[in-house]
Amino acid sequence: MAPPAFPQLHAPFPRTRPRRLRQADWVRRLVAEVGVTPSDLILPVFVAPGNNVAQPVASMPGVARHSVDRLPFLAEEAAKLGLPALALFPATPQELKAEDGREALNADNLVCRAARTLKDAVPGLGLIADVALDPYTSHGQDGLVIDGKVANDETLAVLAEQACVQAEAGFDVVAPSDMMDGRIGAIRDALDGAGFRDTIIVSYAAKYASAFYGPFRDACNSAASLGKGSKRSYQMNPANGDEALREVALDLAEGADMVMVKPGLPYLDIVRRIKDGFGVPTFVYHVSGEYAVIRAAAENGWLDGDAAMVECLLSFKRAGADAILTYAALDVARRLATTRA
Ligand code: PBG
Repeated sequence: MAPPAFPQLHAPFPRTRPRRLRQADWVRRLVAEVGVTPSDLILPVFVAPGNNVAQPVASMPGVARHSVDRLPFLAEEAAKLGLPALALFPATPQELKAEDGREALNADNLVCRAARTLKDAVPGLGLIADVALDPYTSHGQDGLVIDGKVANDETLAVLAEQACVQAEAGFDVVAPSDMMDGRIGAIRDALDGAGFRDTIIVSYAAKYASAFYGPFRDACNSAASLGKGSKRSYQMNPANGDEALREVALDLAEGADMVMVKPGLPYLDIVRRIKDGFGVPTFVYHVSGEYAVIRAAAENGWLDGDAAMVECLLSFKRAGADAILTYAALDVARRLATTRA
């Protein structure tokens, strides 16, 4: 951010008193630099097999996996509260997982059925699909494993086909979260070739190998599959910042419409650098572990969970994020509807 233009014009105390502008709610609101509105929020949703299922996720208090038939209720509430979009993730049954993750290409898999149901029920709500193989592979890796390694180029064709299957099912946005090199170009070409020219790509361009994904892997049944396996050969090293800018540059050059940083709080500097450096729509994912630590502390009475959540969301906006994926999207939107958060 640029330094203030005339720093010398600030009179010192006691003429200048920063507290003057904090003395009442009305003035605090007038001088607020950023705010969070429902239009900034995307709700990630876990889709479970079966009917009439709302199965709580133990490591994510307040979050459940929902069967396809129940999704319209959730979606209607989200739309009513002003959320623009949902991001869907499947909890694939173990028996449908395979070494090659072929269920990802099944046009009747959980997320595809969910998309068709939701487009029917709440057509105006945006739908985002995750492109990666980990919900579908028996080993829990995001790509094909060949000779003990996650094979980059062989995976690209599968991801491209997965994205087309998702677009065909009704997803408006595909979000590659797999971190294979070259996947944005491969997916864009495949989508265009299949006539899905308007399908949007939001690239998880700066996705770090993070310990904060733990609860998500529980929610999607992929923790057991991954076991002691690690994703460090494709997800980024948390020590690196410049590399995130390189990833973003590559993905934009390959045709990404928007980019994402993930997780959120530990990577606020990356959000700001991307926003300043590229000026493109930049999303941030407030991931499962970040959500869980706040909810766990709140359940213990150690902090006010809703206030802590809004504070985190404000930090994303201040860092330059345009939209935020957060499991608290409904809670926060409800709170915004009734109070001034
Ligand atoms: C899968 C994927 C992950 C998340 C989103 N997509 C997990 C992972 O990479 O292991 C994590 C989201 C969260 O923790 O909330 N490719």
